[in-house]
Amino acid sequence: MQEPRRVFVSRRLPGPALERLARRRGLRVEIWPRREAPGPRALARACRDAEGLLCLLSDRVDSALLAAAPRLRAISSYSVGLDHVDLAAATARGIPVGHTPGVLTETTAELALALLFAAARRVVEADRCVRAGAWTGSWDPSGLLGRDLRGATLGVIGLGAIGRALAARARALGMRVLGWSKSRRRVAGVEPVRLPELLARSELVSVHVALAAQTQGLLGARELARMRPGAILVNTSRGGIVDEAALARALRAGRLGGAALDVFAREPLPASSPLFAAPNLILTPHIGSASVATRARMAELAVENLLAGLAGRAMPRCANPEALRRGSARGTRGAARPKPRGGARGPRAGDRR
Ligand code: GLV
Repeated sequence: MQEPRRVFVSRRLPGPALERLARRRGLRVEIWPRREAPGPRALARACRDAEGLLCLLSDRVDSALLAAAPRLRAISSYSVGLDHVDLAAATARGIPVGHTPGVLTETTAELALALLFAAARRVVEADRCVRAGAWTGSWDPSGLLGRDLRGATLGVIGLGAIGRALAARARALGMRVLGWSKSRRRVAGVEPVRLPELLARSELVSVHVALAAQTQGLLGARELARMRPGAILVNTSRGGIVDEAALARALRAGRLGGAALDVFAREPLPASSPLFAAPNLILTPHIGSASVATRARMAELAVENLLAGLAGRAMPRCANPEALRRGSARGTRGAARPKPRGGARGPRAGDRR
């Protein structure tokens, strides 16, 4: 009788998908029981004899982890972004890496829109004002004035699926939309411009590029200085794209009108971050995909990816389909030669999801 294959899941996930995985014959599934992420050492220990890993964006899957997990055959990340995974190292080992594009597009675009509204209409500040007992007198004709989205110009940085979903919503609200993407993608209703022009013309800017070597620090002090005085910046993509110290300075100096960040270079945001003292800044804890339905759909897709990878089949959403060919060429998989399916494709560099 064959030993069951070990699978490590680095956190409990919403929805029924994990239960299905745990009931699967031939697998021994271990789920990290705590709310906090396993640290690198605990993760390496848990992966030591695992053939499958279902990880989160907060788990660093680097070459050290791969070296500590010699039996690993499939990695499935419960995220669309894969900046936490050393894709080149996984590919070199013939390990396919799955992720969850598509299922979280609309939900993340909705959060970006919510943050644009919240920053433009000072919603969080207004809530604080009421709670602090600062709402005195009666209705104030000039209190907490914000700005309208209708008629304003929105710059969308990155025209992947989420950037395009936000652009469509902004157009429906009567906004003018400018767009920039590394691949110079054309999108109906979006005026294609270069990045400096987008920054100079937009009253609101929303970031939707994946974090990669080319996009790390894309919005640094120089780029923030190019933004229109009083403009608003929203980032729901990855923290490393915006220089946080430079943003804090621009907000403190009143150069920018406001910002809303859902993602940070280090998560959770360290108490020492200059962002905490910056005015007109809304901070949310990386909740772009956080709706009940979307998080359950992500779990379904992550489990499907993992099972396909373990079986040597093409994952429904694989970031490195070429890994399977390497794995089978080297004979590291027992399964039949995989047939790539239409849905399997790698992420497009620079455009998020
Ligand atoms: C969230 O940021 C994700 O990458 O899924």
